[in-house]
Amino acid sequence: MCGIVGYVGSKTYGPDVVISGLRRLEYRGYDSAGIAIRYNPGERSDEMYGHIIENWREQGGVDELYDSIPESVIWESDCVIGHTRWATHGAPSRRNAHPHTSMNRAITLVHNGIIENYETLKTKLIQEGYEFESQTDTEVLANWIEYIWEKSATDFVSAVRFALQDVVGAYAILVISPKSDQLIMAKKSSPLAIGVAEHGFIIASDATPIVEYTKDIIYLEDDQMAVIENNIDLRLMNLDATEIDPVIERVDLDLEQIEKGGFDSFMLKEINEQTETIQNCIRGRLTDDLEPLMMGGIDGIMPQLLRANKIFIIACGTSWHAALAGKNMIEKLARIPVEVDYASEFRYKDPIIRPGDVVIGITQSGETADTKAALEMAKERGASLFGIVNVVGSSIARLVDAGIYTHSGVEVGVASTKAFTGQVAALALLAMRMGRQLGNINDDSYLRLKSALRSIPKKVAKILANTDDILAIADEYTDEKYHDFLYLARGFNFPIALEGALKLKEISYIHAEGYPAAEIKHGPIALIDHEMPVIVIATKKGHYEKIVSNIHEIKSRNGKIIAIVTEGDETLKKIADHWIEIPESSEFFTPLFATIPLQLMSYYIAVMRNCNVDQPRNLAKSVTVE
Ligand code: AGP
Repeated sequence: MCGIVGYVGSKTYGPDVVISGLRRLEYRGYDSAGIAIRYNPGERSDEMYGHIIENWREQGGVDELYDSIPESVIWESDCVIGHTRWATHGAPSRRNAHPHTSMNRAITLVHNGIIENYETLKTKLIQEGYEFESQTDTEVLANWIEYIWEKSATDFVSAVRFALQDVVGAYAILVISPKSDQLIMAKKSSPLAIGVAEHGFIIASDATPIVEYTKDIIYLEDDQMAVIENNIDLRLMNLDATEIDPVIERVDLDLEQIEKGGFDSFMLKEINEQTETIQNCIRGRLTDDLEPLMMGGIDGIMPQLLRANKIFIIACGTSWHAALAGKNMIEKLARIPVEVDYASEFRYKDPIIRPGDVVIGITQSGETADTKAALEMAKERGASLFGIVNVVGSSIARLVDAGIYTHSGVEVGVASTKAFTGQVAALALLAMRMGRQLGNINDDSYLRLKSALRSIPKKVAKILANTDDILAIADEYTDEKYHDFLYLARGFNFPIALEGALKLKEISYIHAEGYPAAEIKHGPIALIDHEMPVIVIATKKGHYEKIVSNIHEIKSRNGKIIAIVTEGDETLKKIADHWIEIPESSEFFTPLFATIPLQLMSYYIAVMRNCNVDQPRNLAKSVTVE
């Protein structure tokens, strides 16, 4: 998830609008940034095409970029495009920063999204003599548009339109050329908004860079393009060139709100982004029919994974809970033993690592010191390293031999939410790929697993659409008298009970513990009384009868039961004090659904206790010290 900004209009505004717009979008990505300034003929005439485009890029945030641009640069232009990056392909560097320019300089563009078939296009371009300076999918797109323009298109707009018809993936792009005074934009999946101001057009990934200048905004829809020419004429069209009448919406949101996407906090925004972020994690990897799952990042290490005697998974905090969920999925489908360790313990426990063993490190930030140090130790002992990471180009992403990026986007809230479900989705893909290659999954099961995975974003959207019940329940348990919570579950859901308890602890400062449901008979049941809320994940698939009897044990000691149940489960609705329904699903994928009501429950309780949910006390988003 990156941020893009463009401006066409009055010369005095150009560069400043784009730079301040990029600053507003930095929450979307901040590992590198760049702008391209277009000068008209006579301003800095260029004998080749009449216009000249100057491209400035820098590693780091927008401030680093701004400070790197020489004073001598003419800071006046009626057309400027810019980008602040959240790396997906190619580590953060000036070379991989946007804007990218095509080999023969006909095209300069900024892009937010992922071009899934970039390798196919790149192979074709190399055959046509193209060379590349970066590792990005975006540079491939710039060259593809140039190639199409030179090969078949008559004009700039057709070149972009035809080129996009060959592209698979997500994109919001702004494209300029020294051969034209047009600015062209297009959108598919990634957001793009056009602000209509008196002095010009401000185009951006969201309204944050726009509302300072105008509240009149046109939101592009998927497969739509727009062209601005003569700095004043705006045309909208579909990729098949049919014209569209622009619809201007009045956006009454202040900046703070927009950065939070209209939500009260980054955490609530990120919880609500999970439909999209889980989709981003499986996008381009979940293939059709019996096709193998496409996960280029793991091809290199697949042989080691498949013949591993043992797999270790190490992580910290929420990522450690994802590791436990991963163990269940890998052991179920690949039938290879998996040991899960806290990275800080693994580091010093002198683990028995044998040649051929694989150590998987799971981390959102990619900078957690305990996980990094433990992986470095495992590497010294000859283990193959594999990473499940969100931050592209982070230290751990560069340390491991191979890995999967979760593509969850920037996670600002300290309490991890969307990165966690991204990790669990990535582990599900890994387990499915290994199980299939080891011949443990027959065609029917494989197709069933794939269709279940494909249905997840829709089902998550359904949960997120109905949160009033969760709010009402949280409201009942905000009272100070509820100072301890128990979270119970069985099997695949047990790690989610632990994660639910951690979320409540870290943002509401209430003591909470997660336990395997059957285990409470061996001690914790002593805690149960009428002031002990017990959250039980009691879904239909996986030990249902057993968990129902556990609930009866707690009820008979006046415990308060808040049950996460499968849609339509009338039995538990009669037993539990409160219940929250989640969609029907196989035991394998229930963790992805059961997590969300628990995230929301802890969120609402914390807010009602006036806690700072985005920056809880004593915590940091990335723990870079041991
Ligand atoms: C989770 O909400 C916390 N922020 C924390 O437990 C976190 O999961 C842990 O510090 C690990 O971070 P990582 O995933 O970036 O390595």
